Amino acid sequence: MHMIRPAGRAMEIKHATRDVVPIAKEVEKSGKKVLYLNIGDPMVYDYRTPEHIWKAIEDNKQKSEGYTDALGTIGARSAVADYAKRMGVNGVTSDDVITFVGGSEAIIVSLQALMDRGENCLIPNPGYSIFSGELSFLECPPNEYYLDEENGWQPDASQIEKQINPKTKAIVVINPNNPTGAVFSKTTLKRIIDVAGSHNIVVFADETYDQLLLDDDPFTPMASIANDVPVVSTGSISKNYLAPGFRGGWIYRHDPQGILGEYFEAIKKICRLRLSTVAPVQFAMEAALNGPQGHLAPLREKLRRRRDLTFRRLNEIEGLSCVKPKGAFYAYPQINFPLQSDREFVISLVRKKGVLCVYGEGFGQKPGTHHFRIVFLPPEQILGEAFDKIEEFIKENYLAKK
Ligand SMILES: Cc1ncc(COP(=O)(O)O)c(C=O)c1O
Repeated sequence: MHMIRPAGRAMEIKHATRDVVPIAKEVEKSGKKVLYLNIGDPMVYDYRTPEHIWKAIEDNKQKSEGYTDALGTIGARSAVADYAKRMGVNGVTSDDVITFVGGSEAIIVSLQALMDRGENCLIPNPGYSIFSGELSFLECPPNEYYLDEENGWQPDASQIEKQINPKTKAIVVINPNNPTGAVFSKTTLKRIIDVAGSHNIVVFADETYDQLLLDDDPFTPMASIANDVPVVSTGSISKNYLAPGFRGGWIYRHDPQGILGEYFEAIKKICRLRLSTVAPVQFAMEAALNGPQGHLAPLREKLRRRRDLTFRRLNEIEGLSCVKPKGAFYAYPQINFPLQSDREFVISLVRKKGVLCVYGEGFGQKPGTHHFRIVFLPPEQILGEAFDKIEEFIKENYLAKK
């Protein structure tokens, strides 16, 4: 027999946060310690899932043994609707909510149900690579709008408007942002909504990190200011509730004019194909959203300290500069000395110093600029060690050659 030929479009999928791992494993095999600053998984470090979320699974064993409704349990969907209400979004009921295997599945299915081949979504650059990855799988050409590093990585609504064409179906906004840690201002978000409204386009708001705000900048859910413009918002318990392994995510729709009806029906059709969500996780999501929120203040405090260290050290290293992250747990420093590619920089950094980050090419950046993403979840001591090594690496390999 011959080698079985996979779909070409599947082979084209790239997801930089995972694609760097085999190189780090190779380095580890050679006996070198690797500091992993590549993946946004708090559980790799000193964080634990709040106990009451585990308990909800324990307490609902029997109810978790059968299939659930294909769209998620009413309990979990109502919990998301109530959460939206607490966040200032009016009019969302459990009928407007669908639960998924993490926010990732929510994004993948939402795009599958919206996009025909050749159509496009406006997606941020830099941005989280699930959007570009899934859109390329759906054979939809990229249409990326830049976030402005000079302006704290805020998007520019007038630029977004210029890039809309007859095949544009949605504007994706990731706020708080991965990979830059930016939190977008209400004024900016309102402008984007106005642009979407005047072009009959849906807003897809990825609000996965909406509880992880590190300064006083307020978070504005897009649906809370959208009035008659339709918004689909996605979230999950992975980051806010320190439960990425549970795989609990959702979308809710804000659709006062009822124009998302057919689109939502298409999402539901895909959900019915999968038969069921993961039953125990429905109870975990319900407990996370409805239960005590006491872990959040200490979590934000811990992240703030680690962010402060990261921001200070990155800007002290000759050749790097970094905009202060205001939310989530990522920093996206710029490399200010000549180099061939940031991919090569990141690979050489892990090979020579055992520090694993993700290259800017994986998230996007303006032509001629180079960045890499650092996850500042680890304890200060690990972060400090990593920054010492990055500093040495740059001195030895780039600055010495000036
Ligand atoms: C911006 C953003 N959206 C969605 C996700 C998906 O996370 P999950 O599938 O764990 O909910 C992530 C994960 O890193 C993310 O950074």
